[in-house]
Amino acid sequence: MTKIFDNTAIRSQFPAASRMLYLDSAHQTPLCARVRAALEHFFDEGYETAGPKPVWLERIEVVRGRLARFIGAGADEIAYTKNTSEGLNIAANAIDLKAGDNVLMIEGDHPNNAYAWLNLKRKGIDVRFIKLETDIASADTFTPHIDSRTRVISLSHVTFHAGQRHDIASIGALCKSHGLYLVVDAMQSVGVLPVDVKAMGVSMLAAGCHKGLLVPQGLGFLYVDKDLDALQPAYLATAGLAHPPADFIARPDDLTLRSGAGRFELGNFNLPDIHALGASLSMIDEVGADNVEAHVLRLGDRLLAGLDELGIGIAGPRERKHRAHIYVMKIPRDWLPYFEAHNVRVSPERDGIRVSFGLFNNENDVDALLELLRTRMQ
Ligand SMILES: Cc1ncc(COP(=O)(O)O)c(C=O)c1O
Repeated sequence: MTKIFDNTAIRSQFPAASRMLYLDSAHQTPLCARVRAALEHFFDEGYETAGPKPVWLERIEVVRGRLARFIGAGADEIAYTKNTSEGLNIAANAIDLKAGDNVLMIEGDHPNNAYAWLNLKRKGIDVRFIKLETDIASADTFTPHIDSRTRVISLSHVTFHAGQRHDIASIGALCKSHGLYLVVDAMQSVGVLPVDVKAMGVSMLAAGCHKGLLVPQGLGFLYVDKDLDALQPAYLATAGLAHPPADFIARPDDLTLRSGAGRFELGNFNLPDIHALGASLSMIDEVGADNVEAHVLRLGDRLLAGLDELGIGIAGPRERKHRAHIYVMKIPRDWLPYFEAHNVRVSPERDGIRVSFGLFNNENDVDALLELLRTRMQ
């Protein structure tokens, strides 16, 4: 079924987008009406009925299924987490790495991914940062660095600091052919680009839900390929057990793990946010992730054309298939007070000032930004 992307209708769900020039979805997305309604519904239930917990727990599974379908996974391949960092740390500690093994990463990738692996240095794991010499990373970036002790490649799908969209599928194929794990940070891509974990050949994929997935901070998820049974959780709680004791007395003789990604779950869930995620996933599904991608790319085309006219470069790639919703304009940070004074939300980044689009942005937003740039440059 063809999905309809009605930008005006979507935008009306995001009042913040009309109150300011919001170009900072790579930082966080503003709350939209549908997500807020789901949160309110949850709070009303808690307020009025002290919480129908069994109903909430059933809904967790419904949302888990929806999230799984959204990224091409099975429901038993999804664990709820707190954020990207937690997912990446669970992933890094689940692999049976031995002293002398190495992990390949891209220099300058998100620190929350790097630290999850760097923390294993104390166990003798070697984390090797590869300098990116091309627009984006692909299998060719990693091939020359793989040796007999390489076990893992880990990188972002879309980078936060320049908006590169790495070629994960080629890296996935490379990892399969060398028997390596591929661990992906999808914080910036999920909800903005179609993500298909099977097509990309990912072993584990972690993300938070407060950017492209449109919910408040505090919820993330980890995809774990169901065929990777050898992966073991570093932490254990009742939630991760196959036979949780009904009398709540721990059974030292039965530590059998739950099958699937659920074995990595710990304790109670972020119930409000999972309710919010149910609403945001329905909304993005109705619109279509491929339509969101096409929309942010169109806005990117318009921005690039305008920046070219003004003689402003960008830090990341220009080629369409190598970018997504993040554009870092090469202008100095002293532009920030000017943007602030004009009610524009953008972020400072390593090489300039970052503009990032969401499904609610429109062409007028791009034109308004370009007009502000032009005015100050005159
Ligand atoms: C690529 C990437 N990874 C991770 C994070 C954040 O990590 P966490 O969800 O643990 O706060 C961000 C930005 O907030 C990001 O851009």
